[in-house]
Amino acid sequence: MGYYGELKKSAEYIKSRVMLQPEIGVILGSGLGDFADGLEERVVIPYAEIPGFPVSTVKGHKGNLVFGRINGKNLAVMQGRFHLYEGYPIQKVVFGTRVLGLLGISALIVTNAAGGINENFRPGDLMVLKDHINMTGENPAAGEEIPELGPRFFDMTFAYDAELREKAKQVFEEAGLEYKEGVYAFMKGPSYETPAEIRMLKAIGADAVGMSTVPEVIAARQMGIRVLGISCITNMAAGILDKPLSHAEVLEVSEKVKEKFVRVLSSIIGKI
Ligand code: HPA
Repeated sequence: MGYYGELKKSAEYIKSRVMLQPEIGVILGSGLGDFADGLEERVVIPYAEIPGFPVSTVKGHKGNLVFGRINGKNLAVMQGRFHLYEGYPIQKVVFGTRVLGLLGISALIVTNAAGGINENFRPGDLMVLKDHINMTGENPAAGEEIPELGPRFFDMTFAYDAELREKAKQVFEEAGLEYKEGVYAFMKGPSYETPAEIRMLKAIGADAVGMSTVPEVIAARQMGIRVLGISCITNMAAGILDKPLSHAEVLEVSEKVKEKFVRVLSSIIGKI
């Protein structure tokens, strides 16, 4: 059937189960799954029921596509995402993003957990992405050209939409919350980085590092979808502090920040 055929089949299946027309897509990172439980008029479709959809294998990542409303906006929320480090080809990693694109979203909010490289950052900070660096050499737009998914060559100068970033900053300011801004470096993982790698990432202008988000952002931009990215800094990156990194720390901090993150996310959605 081909990749585009699979995407269309997935989208058609979803349309047969959900009446709501999503305007905004949301991809939830580690520990943020609860956000989807707060939607009104909720319709939950487990990934396993959607033809062609991959199934998430990471602890702390649920696997549901959740439709519903928040602050007057129609949402399609991915509760759980796919990563290169799970062994999926990058086309599978962005499968959900592209299905949301075919369902007609015009904006996508991507969230993640990340390690802080910028020494002004602290665990628990939220960072609005202003740009990214793809360190994996992988690109979801590579391969067979599929005109329905967008042009072969496309701009990434304005990948992180200026207006959406401004709205996000307004929400933080109105709530009296601090926020950071920065460049996100995408590493494949699943090992955390070495101190030498972090020094390299710092030297080339990265403020934070993580193992997700960039594939989805590239796929969304190819489809002309506006993007907002927010990272939760769950730890300082390797070698910044004199201690080892642990997944337990990442989960613990994202759990602590969750409530603030979910509140901010809802307010931003209300403004889009
Ligand atoms: N490195 C990569 N990915 C991450 C980190 C990190 O330090 N923290 C959370 N996700």
